[in-house]
Amino acid sequence: MEIRDVGVVGLGTMGAGIAEVFARAGLTVTAVEADSGALSRGMAILDGSLGRAVSRGKLTEDEYAQIVGRVRPGAALGSLAGADLVIEVVPERLAVKRQILAELDQVCRPDAIIATNTSSLSVTAIAAASARPGRVIGMHFFNPAPVMRLVEVVTTVLTEPSAGQAVTELARRLGKTPVQVTDRAGFVANALLLPYLNHAARLLETGYATRDDIDLAVTAGIGLPMGPLALLDLIGLDTSLSVLEVLDREFGGTRYTPAPLLRRLTDAGRVGRKSGAGFYEYSGAATGGDSAVFDNEDQPPPPGTVTLIDHQDRSAELASLIAAAGINVTRNPAHPSDLVIVAIGPEGGVIGPATAAGRAAESVGLHLATLSLAELVASPVTSARALAAARALIARLGLRAVRSADRPGLLVGALLYPQLRDAVAMVGDGYATSADVDTAMTLGCGYPRGPIRLLADAGVGTAVEVLRAMHAGYGDPAFAPSPLMTQYAQGGLSPVARESPAARESPAGHESPAGHETPAGR
Ligand code: CAA
Repeated sequence: MEIRDVGVVGLGTMGAGIAEVFARAGLTVTAVEADSGALSRGMAILDGSLGRAVSRGKLTEDEYAQIVGRVRPGAALGSLAGADLVIEVVPERLAVKRQILAELDQVCRPDAIIATNTSSLSVTAIAAASARPGRVIGMHFFNPAPVMRLVEVVTTVLTEPSAGQAVTELARRLGKTPVQVTDRAGFVANALLLPYLNHAARLLETGYATRDDIDLAVTAGIGLPMGPLALLDLIGLDTSLSVLEVLDREFGGTRYTPAPLLRRLTDAGRVGRKSGAGFYEYSGAATGGDSAVFDNEDQPPPPGTVTLIDHQDRSAELASLIAAAGINVTRNPAHPSDLVIVAIGPEGGVIGPATAAGRAAESVGLHLATLSLAELVASPVTSARALAAARALIARLGLRAVRSADRPGLLVGALLYPQLRDAVAMVGDGYATSADVDTAMTLGCGYPRGPIRLLADAGVGTAVEVLRAMHAGYGDPAFAPSPLMTQYAQGGLSPVARESPAARESPAGHESPAGHETPAGR
């Protein structure tokens, strides 16, 4: 069945984006909204996005006119009688979706496919409301729909194989990469993304780190295109909350229980970009996610002499960096100096070595998360003067810095490793292959490398060590390395699996990292 004529029900941000994707691929689109106000707002979103493409020279006026000409606004579901496929993109409420499916049964051709863009609800529960459950399928796009290349094609025990094939082929015609998954809460991408975003919100609300530092830790420390708080604003805090509620019901545990701050901001109507404010304000140009934290004018001059205290062999790289910047380094705590730096690992732990050196108030912990990002850690007795001197040192070294609480994982590791753990656990559960996981996160969420590749690059041994420290520090089983991850570490195995039927059957299948290419490796 070749799909040429499609309907889109619900023209919010995602619906309008999906309608644009269809129309750009040459399909005829009927876009339906509940009332004329919502319909014209949705058409304006679509028109604005295409207009931006024209002004950036990505579309000609002619192409613009043709694409717009393929989208017909429809006032009622009755206008979808001729559609080959209808996708519903209405709010994440099961009762609303089931009602729409029941109504579509009355107007659509019996062979038409009914797709749902649900982010998290059970496609099976939605399909069961239809008189043709075999033709109901999940077709899950990612925000912004015109940009992100992933479509999760979600089949249920009821789905006819021909419907799965038709939607998979359609996704390819749209220029997207389909990943086929079965009906489990959050599918692949949201089940990995949302717990990590939730954790970031919790770190903010507990004062673990500031908003800008959390986002900078992820963009500069992990290389993702957006920080988690900026991404929550893009997705919408209300949408994120409903996905988390579904994940919480299905899986349970602290990773999924929504951070109270998400609920408070949603209750306050600060749901992100679409409402003009979330974690950030959107008065026009603001995008969030990146800030020069220590560029302020009041910074003191950099220290002339630094005492470097080695904690677990972490200081060699730091010592050469500091020396190369023309700053004296001494290893002797009794020697006078302007600042004491405790070189720490991602497990943290400043107070012990700082106290042992007898200079706790002058000591600041420093961990090089990458060659360009430092994590600064104060102990409970670190003075403001020492912290300011450490910031000046960082600026002198040409690094960016984030300040973290002194807890296992610090900031970058606390955000990164639990997500890598979740990814390996998903592979270990047999829900997705490691290749599917990496495809989903690179093409759906713009990761330069998928979590499995990130884990291979960071080293499974390091990840297991940090996760064990987090588990021991918080007593939360959500941080314990998954059994498969522990096996990878014990066997010295790479987590990057070959994409083959054998890998699907045996998640422990592995090969050397050189044999695997991620779509956007760096
Ligand atoms: N609509 C249409 N196009 C858009 C757009 C939008 N809202 N935002 C950006 N673009 C386009 C731009 O026009 C530009 O196109 P060209 O290259 O053709 O000129 C391109 O995207 C890049 O945009 P920018 O240069 O302005 O910005 P950027 O390089 O910082 O990229 C981004 C912006 C694509 C959003 C990038 O930051 C990114 O990939 N972020 C991660 C987004 C993500 O994770 N999405 C998934 C969320 S989860 C989800 O959606 C599922 C769910 O169910 C909750």
